[in-house]
Amino acid sequence: MADDGKTRGWWHQVRRAVHRIVRWAVNERPSPAPSALHHRSAPALPVGAPAGEGTAIVSNMDAMPVHPAAECTQAPAQRFAAAMGPRSQRARVIAAFNAAQPVDDRYELLGRMAELNRLVDGVVERRQHAVIFGVRGSGKTSLARIFGDLADEAECVALYHAATGDTEFVDLLRPYLPFLQAEARPAGRAALSALAERDFTARDFVSAAAPGLARRVFLIVDEFDRIENAQTKAQMASLLKLLSDTRAPLQFLLVGIAADVDELLEAHPSLRRHLTAVPIRPFGSRAVEAVIDEGSRRSGLLFPAEARVLIGAAAAGSPYHVRLFCQAAGLAAAEAGAGTVDVAAVRTGLAASFEEWASVNASAAALFERLCRLADLRERLRALACDAAAHQTVAADRVPQALAPALLFNDAGTAVFADSLAPQFLLARLQLAASEHRPAMAAAE
Ligand SMILES: Nc1ncnc2c1ncn2[C@@H]1O[C@H](COP(=O)(O)OP(=O)(O)OP(=O)(O)O)[C@@H](O)[C@H]1O
Ligand SMILES: [Mg+2]
Repeated sequence: MADDGKTRGWWHQVRRAVHRIVRWAVNERPSPAPSALHHRSAPALPVGAPAGEGTAIVSNMDAMPVHPAAECTQAPAQRFAAAMGPRSQRARVIAAFNAAQPVDDRYELLGRMAELNRLVDGVVERRQHAVIFGVRGSGKTSLARIFGDLADEAECVALYHAATGDTEFVDLLRPYLPFLQAEARPAGRAALSALAERDFTARDFVSAAAPGLARRVFLIVDEFDRIENAQTKAQMASLLKLLSDTRAPLQFLLVGIAADVDELLEAHPSLRRHLTAVPIRPFGSRAVEAVIDEGSRRSGLLFPAEARVLIGAAAAGSPYHVRLFCQAAGLAAAEAGAGTVDVAAVRTGLAASFEEWASVNASAAALFERLCRLADLRERLRALACDAAAHQTVAADRVPQALAPALLFNDAGTAVFADSLAPQFLLARLQLAASEHRPAMAAAE
């Protein structure tokens, strides 16, 4: 049996090496340059090695809306063929700034070394559970997936599942059961398969799962904030506490918003000792530069300083918007046959991104269009949008009356944009309005 294990281990290494070489070739990856963003005290991280085999995905992920592209002169059939065939410049730009999906290659996870280290410290070394939280599009799923990738490479198991609104406790955990069974020692499998057939409590789950596992397992629950059922959240708090108290080789990474941490701690104050909170803050300017540099390298397009300033200002620290705006600007440049993304291409790209967003947010977009023409209001709108991008909530009394329909207000005197991705589109529209020099229209209020 020991020999069997050794052979399997050797074969696993060979398989992994081949897989890495293939990934390397597919990603056209050169030797990674040491990034200024990499934390100095980074553990033996992944900096030089290609991505591992990835986290098992228990259910499909919710993808972000696919970005359309700036105006394109090619017919759809030609574009389809080009996208499927050898890489066109257009396809390279789209892939280089993929804003539609979370990062799944650790080299593309830029500016998050401190957060990744925090996860390794808390979850791997101190065996705590983690809550990863931040605003929409800030990179929570990307971070969790790359953590899963590292876990996979360290011969641990990471299982990913996205929660939905009215999920009950058992429904939340059931999707993991077949995978946990596959990981359990033969003696532990029966207990886990019995759980699949009935309702169970947190204690039942721990009794069945914890003793049988042969390796360390990390269960990633994405979209945790979408769970509306308070009972489910309270049971999850009990589950985390029990897993910690029984020293189970099973840990949770919950991905959601800041309020999730409070709710979990309210349900179980002593969970504090067992929880690492990892806030995902807006990107600083160096991280924005790093994303543009990486995309520029992959697409072969140059982004001069003026173009970067405009994109960085509109994206306001959101990695999603940095990629989205770069992609749209890059497509505009590629469409014009240019190798450099100039200011005109950025403006075309911002306009295309705004229009695409408008197709799913018609009333807010129409409101932004109208208000951005009011030169007197622009600075107020810009400051508000920047604040909302950074903190999500803004003081209600700072919201101009005319903008109110695009926000949700609460009793605590604060407000949030109804679409949390909206502030950056407002910033993009403000930039375009400022460059258009249109005469101010009559006040809308
Ligand atoms: N560290 C990063 N470096 C480069 N790009 C990133 C980074 N983090 C996120 N992105 C990009 O930003 C976009 C949003 O990322 P992701 O889906 O991880 O965010 P999220 O916080 O999970 O969003 P949501 O709240 O909508 O689920 C993706 O296109 C992703 O590629
Ligand atoms: Mg996400």
